[in-house]
Amino acid sequence: MVVLTWPAETLWEQLEPLVPGLNVEVVAEADSTNTRLLERTRAGDGGACLLVAERQTAGRGRMGRHWESSPGASLTFSLALPLAPADWSGLSLVVGVALAEALHPQLRLKWPNDLWLLSGSDGARGRKLGGILIETAMAADRRVAVIGVGLNIRDAQDDPAAEVGRAALAELDAQAGAPATLLQVARPLLQAVLAFEREGFTPWQARYAARDALAGRSVRLLPAQGPAVEGTVEGVNSQGGLLVHTAAGLSTITSGEVSVRPC
Ligand code: BTN
Repeated sequence: MVVLTWPAETLWEQLEPLVPGLNVEVVAEADSTNTRLLERTRAGDGGACLLVAERQTAGRGRMGRHWESSPGASLTFSLALPLAPADWSGLSLVVGVALAEALHPQLRLKWPNDLWLLSGSDGARGRKLGGILIETAMAADRRVAVIGVGLNIRDAQDDPAAEVGRAALAELDAQAGAPATLLQVARPLLQAVLAFEREGFTPWQARYAARDALAGRSVRLLPAQGPAVEGTVEGVNSQGGLLVHTAAGLSTITSGEVSVRPC
Protein backbone atom coordinates (compact mmCIF):
# COMPACT_ATOMS: atom_id res chain seq x y z
CA MET A 1 0.00 0.00 0.00
CA VAL A 2 1.29 3.47 -0.87
CA VAL A 3 1.12 5.99 1.98
CA LEU A 4 1.05 9.59 0.77
CA THR A 5 1.38 12.75 2.86
CA TRP A 6 -0.46 15.68 1.32
CA PRO A 7 0.50 19.31 2.01
CA ALA A 8 -3.15 20.40 2.34
CA GLU A 9 -2.45 23.26 4.73
CA THR A 10 0.43 24.65 2.68
CA LEU A 11 -1.76 24.47 -0.42
CA TRP A 12 -4.55 26.32 1.35
CA GLU A 13 -2.10 29.02 2.50
CA GLN A 14 -0.93 29.44 -1.10
CA LEU A 15 -4.33 29.39 -2.78
CA GLU A 16 -6.84 30.99 -0.41
CA PRO A 17 -5.34 34.50 -0.64
CA LEU A 18 -6.02 34.34 -4.41
CA VAL A 19 -9.62 33.18 -3.96
CA PRO A 20 -10.89 34.01 -0.48
CA GLY A 21 -13.00 31.19 0.96
CA LEU A 22 -11.43 28.46 -1.21
CA ASN A 23 -11.29 25.02 0.45
CA VAL A 24 -8.69 22.31 -0.01
CA GLU A 25 -9.85 18.72 0.47
CA VAL A 26 -7.92 15.47 0.12
CA VAL A 27 -9.83 12.18 0.12
CA ALA A 28 -8.57 8.62 -0.07
CA GLU A 29 -11.16 7.66 -2.66
CA ALA A 30 -13.76 9.27 -4.91
CA ASP A 31 -15.67 8.01 -7.91
CA SER A 32 -14.34 11.02 -9.81
CA THR A 33 -13.21 14.37 -8.43
CA ASN A 34 -14.96 16.12 -11.32
CA THR A 35 -18.22 14.26 -10.66
CA ARG A 36 -18.08 15.10 -6.94
CA LEU A 37 -17.55 18.81 -7.52
CA LEU A 38 -20.21 18.98 -10.22
CA GLU A 39 -22.71 17.31 -7.88
CA ARG A 40 -21.80 19.69 -5.08
CA THR A 41 -22.20 22.67 -7.38
CA ARG A 42 -25.57 21.49 -8.71
CA ALA A 43 -26.69 21.04 -5.09
CA GLY A 44 -26.15 24.80 -4.65
CA ASP A 45 -22.57 25.01 -3.30
CA GLY A 46 -20.90 27.55 -5.58
CA GLY A 47 -17.73 27.83 -3.49
CA ALA A 48 -14.21 27.36 -4.79
CA CYS A 49 -12.61 24.04 -3.90
CA LEU A 50 -9.51 22.02 -4.72
CA LEU A 51 -10.41 18.34 -4.36
CA VAL A 52 -7.69 15.71 -4.54
CA ALA A 53 -8.42 11.98 -4.57
CA GLU A 54 -5.68 9.40 -4.03
CA ARG A 55 -7.82 6.95 -5.94
CA GLN A 56 -10.69 7.36 -8.37
CA THR A 57 -13.02 4.44 -8.94
CA ALA A 58 -14.77 5.98 -11.93
CA GLY A 59 -12.34 8.59 -13.26
CA ARG A 60 -13.58 10.21 -16.45
CA GLY A 61 -11.70 11.41 -19.52
CA ARG A 62 -12.83 13.42 -22.52
CA MET A 63 -15.37 12.03 -24.99
CA GLY A 64 -16.90 9.76 -22.33
CA ARG A 65 -13.70 7.76 -21.87
CA HIS A 66 -12.56 6.17 -18.63
CA TRP A 67 -9.50 7.67 -16.92
CA GLU A 68 -7.23 5.03 -15.38
CA SER A 69 -5.15 5.98 -12.35
CA SER A 70 -3.72 4.37 -9.26
CA PRO A 71 -2.55 5.80 -5.89
CA GLY A 72 1.02 7.07 -5.91
CA ALA A 73 1.37 6.38 -9.63
CA SER A 74 -0.85 9.30 -10.58
CA LEU A 75 -2.13 12.66 -9.42
CA THR A 76 -5.84 13.27 -9.82
CA PHE A 77 -7.51 16.46 -8.72
CA SER A 78 -10.18 18.96 -9.68
CA LEU A 79 -10.51 22.65 -9.06
CA ALA A 80 -14.01 24.12 -8.79
CA LEU A 81 -14.05 27.85 -9.39
CA PRO A 82 -16.90 30.29 -10.03
CA LEU A 83 -15.88 32.00 -13.25
CA ALA A 84 -17.36 34.65 -15.52
CA PRO A 85 -14.97 35.22 -18.45
CA ALA A 86 -16.23 37.28 -21.39
CA ASP A 87 -15.34 34.30 -23.63
CA TRP A 88 -14.69 30.72 -22.46
CA SER A 89 -12.76 29.64 -25.54
CA GLY A 90 -9.17 28.64 -24.86
CA LEU A 91 -9.57 27.86 -21.15
CA SER A 92 -8.34 24.27 -21.48
CA LEU A 93 -5.32 25.46 -23.48
CA VAL A 94 -4.45 27.95 -20.73
CA VAL A 95 -4.70 25.15 -18.14
CA GLY A 96 -2.37 23.04 -20.27
CA VAL A 97 0.17 25.87 -20.62
CA ALA A 98 0.12 26.53 -16.87
CA LEU A 99 0.69 22.84 -16.08
CA ALA A 100 3.42 22.34 -18.68
CA GLU A 101 5.28 25.51 -17.62
CA ALA A 102 5.05 24.59 -13.94
CA LEU A 103 6.23 21.02 -14.51
CA HIS A 104 9.04 20.77 -17.06
CA PRO A 105 10.55 22.59 -20.08
CA GLN A 106 10.30 19.38 -22.12
CA LEU A 107 6.52 19.03 -21.86
CA ARG A 108 4.41 19.85 -24.87
CA LEU A 109 0.69 20.28 -25.53
CA LYS A 110 -1.38 18.29 -27.93
CA TRP A 111 -4.47 20.29 -28.80
CA PRO A 112 -6.92 20.56 -27.19
CA ASN A 113 -5.91 19.26 -23.78
CA ASP A 114 -3.26 16.58 -23.56
CA LEU A 115 0.14 16.97 -21.96
CA TRP A 116 2.72 15.19 -24.04
CA LEU A 117 6.27 14.08 -23.58
CA LEU A 118 8.03 14.04 -26.92
CA SER A 119 10.38 11.20 -27.74
CA GLY A 120 12.50 10.05 -30.65
CA SER A 121 15.66 11.90 -31.71
CA ASP A 122 13.59 14.36 -33.78
CA GLY A 123 10.82 14.59 -31.18
CA ALA A 124 8.46 13.10 -33.75
CA ARG A 125 6.59 10.84 -31.36
CA GLY A 126 4.62 11.93 -28.35
CA ARG A 127 3.30 9.99 -25.40
CA LYS A 128 0.49 11.21 -23.18
CA LEU A 129 1.57 12.28 -19.69
CA GLY A 130 -1.62 13.98 -18.58
CA GLY A 131 -5.09 15.09 -19.50
CA ILE A 132 -7.52 17.86 -18.66
CA LEU A 133 -11.30 17.63 -18.43
CA ILE A 134 -13.20 20.90 -17.98
CA GLU A 135 -16.89 20.86 -17.21
CA THR A 136 -19.24 23.51 -15.85
CA ALA A 137 -22.35 23.55 -13.67
CA MET A 138 -24.61 26.19 -12.17
CA ALA A 139 -25.02 26.95 -8.47
CA ALA A 140 -27.99 29.31 -8.37
CA ASP A 141 -26.97 32.06 -10.83
CA ARG A 142 -23.23 31.32 -10.66
CA ARG A 143 -21.42 29.26 -13.30
CA VAL A 144 -18.73 27.14 -11.75
CA ALA A 145 -15.92 25.65 -13.83
CA VAL A 146 -14.69 22.24 -12.68
CA ILE A 147 -11.17 21.80 -13.99
CA GLY A 148 -10.05 18.18 -13.69
CA VAL A 149 -6.41 17.21 -14.09
CA GLY A 150 -4.90 13.73 -14.27
CA LEU A 151 -1.11 13.35 -14.40
CA ASN A 152 0.88 10.13 -14.70
CA ILE A 153 3.59 10.29 -12.06
CA ARG A 154 5.17 6.88 -12.54
CA ASP A 155 4.40 3.52 -14.09
CA ALA A 156 1.77 1.58 -12.22
CA GLN A 157 3.69 -1.70 -12.12
CA ASP A 158 0.82 -3.54 -10.54
CA ASP A 159 -1.82 -2.17 -12.88
CA PRO A 160 -2.39 -4.50 -15.82
CA ALA A 161 -4.83 -1.97 -17.26
CA ALA A 162 -2.16 0.76 -17.46
CA GLU A 163 -2.22 2.30 -20.91
CA VAL A 164 0.57 1.24 -23.22
CA GLY A 165 2.49 4.15 -24.70
CA ARG A 166 1.80 6.56 -21.90
CA ALA A 167 4.49 8.77 -20.38
CA ALA A 168 5.12 9.58 -16.71
CA LEU A 169 6.79 12.46 -14.87
CA ALA A 170 9.27 10.07 -13.25
CA GLU A 171 10.96 9.81 -16.67
CA LEU A 172 11.94 13.48 -16.23
CA ASP A 173 12.47 13.46 -12.47
CA ALA A 174 13.05 10.14 -10.74
CA GLN A 175 12.00 11.69 -7.41
CA ALA A 176 8.60 12.90 -8.70
CA GLY A 177 5.72 12.24 -6.34
CA ALA A 178 2.02 13.13 -6.42
CA PRO A 179 1.92 15.46 -3.35
CA ALA A 180 5.01 17.47 -4.40
CA THR A 181 3.72 17.67 -7.97
CA LEU A 182 0.42 19.08 -6.74
CA LEU A 183 2.29 21.72 -4.76
CA GLN A 184 4.27 22.59 -7.87
CA VAL A 185 1.24 23.11 -10.12
CA ALA A 186 -1.65 24.28 -7.93
CA ARG A 187 -0.80 27.96 -7.50
CA PRO A 188 0.36 28.59 -11.09
CA LEU A 189 -2.78 26.83 -12.30
CA LEU A 190 -5.09 28.96 -10.18
CA GLN A 191 -3.24 32.16 -11.17
CA ALA A 192 -3.52 31.19 -14.84
CA VAL A 193 -7.26 30.57 -14.65
CA LEU A 194 -7.83 33.89 -12.87
CA ALA A 195 -5.74 35.70 -15.52
CA PHE A 196 -7.77 33.94 -18.25
CA GLU A 197 -11.00 35.15 -16.62
CA ARG A 198 -9.74 38.75 -16.79
CA GLU A 199 -7.99 38.73 -20.16
CA GLY A 200 -9.07 35.70 -22.18
CA PHE A 201 -6.82 33.47 -24.31
CA THR A 202 -5.09 36.08 -26.49
CA PRO A 203 -2.23 36.85 -24.04
CA TRP A 204 -1.57 33.07 -23.87
CA GLN A 205 -1.35 32.46 -27.60
CA ALA A 206 2.46 32.84 -27.82
CA ARG A 207 3.02 30.76 -24.68
CA TYR A 208 0.82 28.03 -26.15
CA ALA A 209 2.77 28.22 -29.44
CA ALA A 210 6.04 27.65 -27.54
CA ARG A 211 4.65 24.33 -26.26
CA ASP A 212 2.59 23.32 -29.28
CA ALA A 213 3.32 19.66 -30.16
CA LEU A 214 1.25 19.74 -33.35
CA ALA A 215 2.44 22.85 -35.22
CA GLY A 216 3.79 21.81 -38.62
CA ARG A 217 2.53 18.25 -38.30
CA SER A 218 0.25 16.29 -40.58
CA VAL A 219 -2.88 15.39 -38.70
CA ARG A 220 -6.21 13.71 -39.14
CA LEU A 221 -9.03 15.39 -37.29
CA LEU A 222 -12.33 14.00 -36.22
CA PRO A 223 -14.41 17.11 -35.53
CA ALA A 224 -17.24 16.85 -32.97
CA GLN A 225 -19.54 17.11 -36.02
CA GLY A 226 -18.93 16.45 -39.68
CA PRO A 227 -16.45 14.33 -41.65
CA ALA A 228 -12.78 13.73 -40.87
CA VAL A 229 -10.34 16.41 -42.04
CA GLU A 230 -6.70 15.90 -43.00
CA GLY A 231 -4.08 18.60 -43.19
CA THR A 232 -1.10 20.34 -41.64
CA VAL A 233 -1.40 22.22 -38.36
CA GLU A 234 -0.48 25.90 -38.49
CA GLY A 235 -0.91 26.60 -34.77
CA VAL A 236 -3.84 28.05 -32.83
CA ASN A 237 -5.72 31.30 -33.32
CA SER A 238 -6.41 33.98 -30.70
CA GLN A 239 -9.44 32.04 -29.42
CA GLY A 240 -7.51 28.78 -29.11
CA GLY A 241 -9.02 27.19 -32.25
CA LEU A 242 -6.72 24.79 -34.13
CA LEU A 243 -5.68 26.13 -37.54
CA VAL A 244 -5.30 23.34 -40.10
CA HIS A 245 -4.23 23.81 -43.68
CA THR A 246 -6.28 21.35 -45.74
CA ALA A 247 -6.75 20.75 -49.46
CA ALA A 248 -9.78 23.06 -49.21
CA GLY A 249 -7.87 25.89 -47.53
CA LEU A 250 -7.41 26.98 -43.93
CA SER A 251 -9.86 25.42 -41.46
CA THR A 252 -10.38 26.39 -37.84
CA ILE A 253 -11.29 23.47 -35.60
CA THR A 254 -12.87 24.37 -32.28
CA SER A 255 -13.59 20.91 -30.86
CA GLY A 256 -12.86 17.31 -31.70
CA GLU A 257 -10.14 14.67 -31.67
CA VAL A 258 -6.78 14.92 -33.41
CA SER A 259 -4.51 12.07 -34.38
CA VAL A 260 -1.04 12.68 -35.72
CA ARG A 261 -0.38 10.97 -39.06
CA PRO A 262 2.90 9.14 -39.50
CA CYS A 263 5.43 11.34 -41.32
C1 BTN B 1 -8.53 13.22 -20.87
O1 BTN B 1 -7.38 13.27 -21.27
O2 BTN B 1 -9.38 12.54 -21.47
C2 BTN B 1 -8.91 13.99 -19.64
C3 BTN B 1 -8.56 13.24 -18.39
C4 BTN B 1 -8.92 13.99 -17.11
C5 BTN B 1 -8.76 13.13 -15.90
C6 BTN B 1 -8.95 13.91 -14.63
S1 BTN B 1 -8.44 12.99 -13.22
C7 BTN B 1 -9.18 14.17 -12.17
C8 BTN B 1 -10.49 14.57 -12.80
N1 BTN B 1 -11.55 13.64 -12.41
C9 BTN B 1 -11.98 12.92 -13.42
O3 BTN B 1 -12.86 12.03 -13.36
N2 BTN B 1 -11.35 13.27 -14.55
C10 BTN B 1 -10.39 14.33 -14.32
